[in-house]
Amino acid sequence: MKKIAPSILSADFSKLAAEVAEVEQAGADYLHIDVMDGHFVPNVTFGPNVIQSLRPCTRLPLDVHLMMTNPENYIEAFAKAGADIISVHAETCPHLHRVLQLIHTSGARAGVVLNPATPVSALEYVMDSTDLILIMTVNPGFGGQTFIPGMIDKIRQTRDLIANQSRPIEIEVDGGINGETAKSCADAGADVFVAGSFIFGKKDRAQAVQSLRSALS
Ligand code: DX5
Ligand code: ZN
Repeated sequence: MKKIAPSILSADFSKLAAEVAEVEQAGADYLHIDVMDGHFVPNVTFGPNVIQSLRPCTRLPLDVHLMMTNPENYIEAFAKAGADIISVHAETCPHLHRVLQLIHTSGARAGVVLNPATPVSALEYVMDSTDLILIMTVNPGFGGQTFIPGMIDKIRQTRDLIANQSRPIEIEVDGGINGETAKSCADAGADVFVAGSFIFGKKDRAQAVQSLRSALS
């Protein structure tokens, strides 16, 4: 079953709890939370305190995407705040394997994120410590950008790499996801679909989640 992960980056922050409740009721599977440090990416968003405040508002697994340098310094804080999945960018981690182990020790599932320019080979020696692979389908930093079509082949390559693994590893896609791009990514092998502006940019968020669901079925 394909999973839908609404990204709160495009939500109305003045009523975040209500926004989250709406997508949860509409059948979302994960809640995607974009953490940006103004250094690795040219934008600033939330820290662990926002995740801690959201934790009691929803039963959805909190899927935390860390767009920050030195993420190892914050893993413990995000895990304690209630993150269920913590994903770090391969580009920010010279000691990626160690950071993934740290995520597991902190009690969360571990994800690796690849920027559009980073090859799939970056994953090759960390597969034993990875639960989720996030393929960026835009350059990270902002919502509402256009999907990069070349990433479809990258999803296929990632799917091939996973095929030899005995443990289940999810492939997530993030950036420019709508009904059409989600379908192409699903056909290439993606399992989890992050959508920010496609869901929170609509007046009726529930209807947006449902239309993504029907595009995937
Ligand atoms: C971009 C973030 C995304 C963002 C996607 O850097 O990682 O999660 O919210 O937004 P849309 O779906 O609008 O492209
Ligand atoms: Zn994201």
